[in-house]
Amino acid sequence: MSLRLGDTAPDFEQDSSEGPIRFHEWLGDSWGVLFSHPADFTPVCTTELGLTAKLKDEFAKRNVKAVALSVDPVDSHKEWIKDINETQGCSVNFPIIADQDRKVSALYDMIHPEADSSLTVRSLFVIDPNKKIRLTITYPASTGRNFNEVLRVIDSLQMTDEHKVATPGNWEVGGDVVIVPSLQDEDEIKQRFPQGYKAVKSYLRMTPDPRSNWSGE
Ligand code: BEZ
Repeated sequence: MSLRLGDTAPDFEQDSSEGPIRFHEWLGDSWGVLFSHPADFTPVCTTELGLTAKLKDEFAKRNVKAVALSVDPVDSHKEWIKDINETQGCSVNFPIIADQDRKVSALYDMIHPEADSSLTVRSLFVIDPNKKIRLTITYPASTGRNFNEVLRVIDSLQMTDEHKVATPGNWEVGGDVVIVPSLQDEDEIKQRFPQGYKAVKSYLRMTPDPRSNWSGE
């Protein structure tokens, strides 16, 4: 059965370009982004891994560890990393899991046989420090992912975990947010949102980003 939001991310032990990984232990207290790609030495994957490497500081600011996966072996990953570094102007700074026996792919339902019988699709999981799955996205092999969107969702998750708000469509850090409908106590609202709020409708109450001074530190 496929994994759903709120499920515990399955633990595993598998080899990677940086040596064997015990997933939960490797994550520690960090957030995690686990993402699969169809194969090494393919063009779209090369750009995706380059982008991830270049976003290292952005991931670090949010306490996120990234880890990629494909069904290719470690030696292939290591050779391909040289190409990624050369062509994308980066230094790959995260492990790529070598899931030759498809153990992790099966646990995370990353092979979609009607799309490809043996290769992983572009699955991505965001996992929180409690090892719960907080975001799943699946892209086809022909479409590279938008890693700025992944960061945007992590920003939203980290803020909404902390404050009684949710983020509207196309929200970006610093933009107005909505007060969750379950929060009705006006004293608590005043205390939580000293800048006030605008009730567009009783259920749609906009307030400035409670972390608007947030610098990611
Ligand atoms: C790619 O990463 O470029 C790719 C992989 C599989 C199919 C099509 C494109």
